[in-house]
Amino acid sequence: MATIDTFRPEDERQITAMYRRVFGADAAEGNRLRWEWQYTRNPSRPLEGPQIWVAREGPTIIGQYAAMPVRVSVLGQEIGGSWGMDVMVAPERQRQGLGEMLFRTWEQHVGAALGLGLSESSYRLFQKLRWPNVGPVPCFVKPLTRRALRRPNWPMPINRFVSAVTLPLVRIVARARPLKAGIEPIARFGEEFTALWQRLAPAFTLAVRRDARYLNWKFCDAPHVRYNAVALKRGDQVQGYAVYRHLQEARGRVTLLVDLLADPGDEAGVETLLGWVDREAKAADSDKIRAFCLHGAFGRALKHAGYFQVKSTMEFTAKINAVEVPASFYQDTSGWHVTLGDSDQDR
Ligand SMILES: CC(C)(COP(=O)(O)OP(=O)(O)OC[C@H]1O[C@@H](n2cnc3c(N)ncnc32)[C@H](O)[C@@H]1OP(=O)(O)O)[C@@H](O)C(=O)NCCC(=O)NCCS
Repeated sequence: MATIDTFRPEDERQITAMYRRVFGADAAEGNRLRWEWQYTRNPSRPLEGPQIWVAREGPTIIGQYAAMPVRVSVLGQEIGGSWGMDVMVAPERQRQGLGEMLFRTWEQHVGAALGLGLSESSYRLFQKLRWPNVGPVPCFVKPLTRRALRRPNWPMPINRFVSAVTLPLVRIVARARPLKAGIEPIARFGEEFTALWQRLAPAFTLAVRRDARYLNWKFCDAPHVRYNAVALKRGDQVQGYAVYRHLQEARGRVTLLVDLLADPGDEAGVETLLGWVDREAKAADSDKIRAFCLHGAFGRALKHAGYFQVKSTMEFTAKINAVEVPASFYQDTSGWHVTLGDSDQDR
């Protein structure tokens, strides 16, 4: 008979071995590099220890539900939330109800249970549990060079043909636009970003609290990736930020717009942040910029700035327990602010 309780330091060896079996050796190595930062240095970590539940059978660990606690603003109220992350059941014990036990244990302990970038099996399990289906988080891509539309599964002549036909459009989309406000690089997020969050939180019907502590932990102290961050400034006042990074993918070079924040009604401000990321992406020789963004006004700003909405694979689910929300809350997510920077999506 399986029991579920919380993580103990001596569990680490067994959990690492199970992680390797479920997700593979590379993912396990990545997990090892991130673990300390992700679970023990999270500023929202509960005092008693990391938010990890473990399923045991005698001395043997057969499942884990590891989560990322965050503060979440929901319809103007701040509650304790939690992103489900490294969730697994030992392969020989799957489809016997353990996953359901783990999912329910997690959900019962958190004010807002949030899941982003679900695998096929967890997506199906959330469906089986009849969780609100609010995903996926839309994906937007802005082409910058003729290589942007290449596909590795197309033969080279087809890739060349598509590149040539679409080049005039790409040139129009990628043209430089003037910046309408000031942009300054951020080394670390100061308390002015906490003040910015406090001013902007009511603008979102759901968003993770993006204060200085969270932003520094998430985007300045992460051991596995290096981010660039810039502030949107008018006079002395910080009115937004963008976080991005460049990387090489099999299909070419990509700039990821990982997170952004501004007043959704500040069209010129959002346009300025996006214009800055364009310049940086071109300077880094990227073929395209990719962003994931749920908020309706930010989505419109992305399209206006030359991004195209493409098929998204980032499934999303959410269940709010700590405050009453009407059924319509889950149906209209246009005021929810969720990006690639949320949860542990950018690994
Ligand atoms: C997701 C996971 C933890 C679920 O654990 P579990 O013990 O198998 O789940 P349960 O037995 O409680 O629930 C089974 C239900 O989950 C869904 N499910 C589980 N595995 C599935 C799979 N391979 N394909 C499709 N649906 C699946 C189905 O709805 C299934 O119901 P059914 O058996 O009646 O069809 C487990 O499948 C797992 O470790 N998967 C690999 C790692 C992973 O994807 N983690 C999630 C990262 S977001």
